[in-house]
Amino acid sequence: MAGKTQKLLSLLDGQPVIPVIKIKDVEKAVPLARALAAGGLRMIEITLRTPDALEAIRRIAGEVEHAVVGAGTVLNPKQFDEAAAAGSKFIVSPGLTDSLVSAAANSEVPLLPGAITPSEIMTALEAGIDVLKFFPAEQAGGTTFLRSLASPLASVRFCPTGGISALNAEEYLAVPNVVCVGGSWVAPDDAIRDRKWDVIESLAREARALKPV
Ligand code: 3PG
Repeated sequence: MAGKTQKLLSLLDGQPVIPVIKIKDVEKAVPLARALAAGGLRMIEITLRTPDALEAIRRIAGEVEHAVVGAGTVLNPKQFDEAAAAGSKFIVSPGLTDSLVSAAANSEVPLLPGAITPSEIMTALEAGIDVLKFFPAEQAGGTTFLRSLASPLASVRFCPTGGISALNAEEYLAVPNVVCVGGSWVAPDDAIRDRKWDVIESLAREARALKPV
């Protein structure tokens, strides 16, 4: 699994923020991915929370050369396999189950599963997964909680998501066991609806420039 951690981190390539995206209209997927990539956010997560999500992944994977598209909100092996077949380069889940871990073990596509409690994190470590989503970050205890995990669970790095925005992202990025953050603020629903690609590109550019404080 170490190879898959490496694969995930090399896809991330130092990007501080992964946009978490909900696509309601598949026609918006390609221009949205282009705007985010133009702003410097190549790695993007399309959540499987809408009927158009898999087709959106398929189109972005096929048409947007500079994007690194993954699937989010993957809850079971069937969704894992569908997302991988659609062209997802990585797969994100809000939690960790035995069946998802098995699906990931049989695939070349790296899994970024969610874990919060020490027991969940230890279960992930036993499965060889040491980069984890931390969701819902703000509600679960935020940066204080993450810092408390650093000493006992020193080998783990987190991608916190949930309640993160331009206002608090840098505080998260300053936590030593945080590798990146995720959030929907860079691709707001209304900007997608109104095709404001310039607005999204500039939100992406600001997010790309965020630094630990
Ligand atoms: C996720 O799935 O990571 C979250 O829904 C993103 O949370 P946010 O909308 O608060 O950024």
